[in-house]
Amino acid sequence: MSILEQIDSVRNSFLADIESFPTKSLEIDAIRSKYIGRKGQVAQLFSQLGKAGNDERPLLGQKLNQLKNELSQLFDEKLKQVHSNTQTSEDQKLDLSLPGRKNRIGSLHILEQTLGEIKEIYRSIGFHIAYGPEVDDDYHNFTALNIPEHHPARDMQDTFFINPETVLRTHTSNVQIHLMEEEDPPIRYIVPGRVYRNEAIGYKSYCLFHQVEGIYINEKVSFAELKGCLEYFVKQMFGPKKKMRFRPSYFPFTEPSAEVDIWDEKRNQWMEILGCGMVDPAVLKNVGYDPEKWHGYAFGMGVERIAMLKYEIDDIRNFYSGDIRVLEQFI
Ligand code: PHE
Repeated sequence: MSILEQIDSVRNSFLADIESFPTKSLEIDAIRSKYIGRKGQVAQLFSQLGKAGNDERPLLGQKLNQLKNELSQLFDEKLKQVHSNTQTSEDQKLDLSLPGRKNRIGSLHILEQTLGEIKEIYRSIGFHIAYGPEVDDDYHNFTALNIPEHHPARDMQDTFFINPETVLRTHTSNVQIHLMEEEDPPIRYIVPGRVYRNEAIGYKSYCLFHQVEGIYINEKVSFAELKGCLEYFVKQMFGPKKKMRFRPSYFPFTEPSAEVDIWDEKRNQWMEILGCGMVDPAVLKNVGYDPEKWHGYAFGMGVERIAMLKYEIDDIRNFYSGDIRVLEQFI
């Protein structure tokens, strides 16, 4: 075959190859090297130029250059076309079998949800909601609650001191005093809030936790009413079948005093959720209420413990770890 004939044959076979142009990059590379690569068919034709006679060599050289430019140009054009096709078809590809995209949304922390349930139960039976200081003086956290200096009951609540007269409150009972100082009886409040204790950390005790205090003062208030109110609360919160018990206890600011335990199904043991009692006459005297005329009850419940029992959370530290695997379970 003469060189001129070979030029035509290479052109035709190239045109046939790019007609069915492949989309995979390896195959594209194969076409490039087959024709216009360093050892491709065009380069081979160039190497035969030496054999041609002197008179045809310039014309053949010209034709070969033309072929080379033509093939390179066609190749580039085809490549561009293939790229733009695959791009649009990728963009437009709609895979209806893919799962939908989930919108992650925030939600209230499980403690805040539990607090909301507690507030709602007490609101429905006539309690107002009040708040008080987390940093308070010794008088409101202890002395006014009938816990004088050096009283052993101060050891019951290991205290974080800001300075010798100021503490992080160890219970929400400090707000009993603030409320009674500010208002004349009768009063009926619940007080949700954070409290702090410098005690050993374990599955049911943490240095920070939440309480809901309750205080009801009126002319005739009985221990039976306190029991009825707390039983009602437990039934609303946990359902009518949950086992509970009242157990005699001691607090300097109530007399008599009791604690309520709830049966912990998982651990097969009782868990204390609150302390309560009839407000001690000494406390009423401290706030200027006449103990002959006014009586009342008070209680203070642990919100974390209630949430642990209700939602089967095994460790109080889970509330404070911020672990998404815990949080996600309570959306
Ligand atoms: N303040 C007590 C505690 O933190 C609970 C309590 C509140 C007990 C009100 C009696 C009355 O343990």
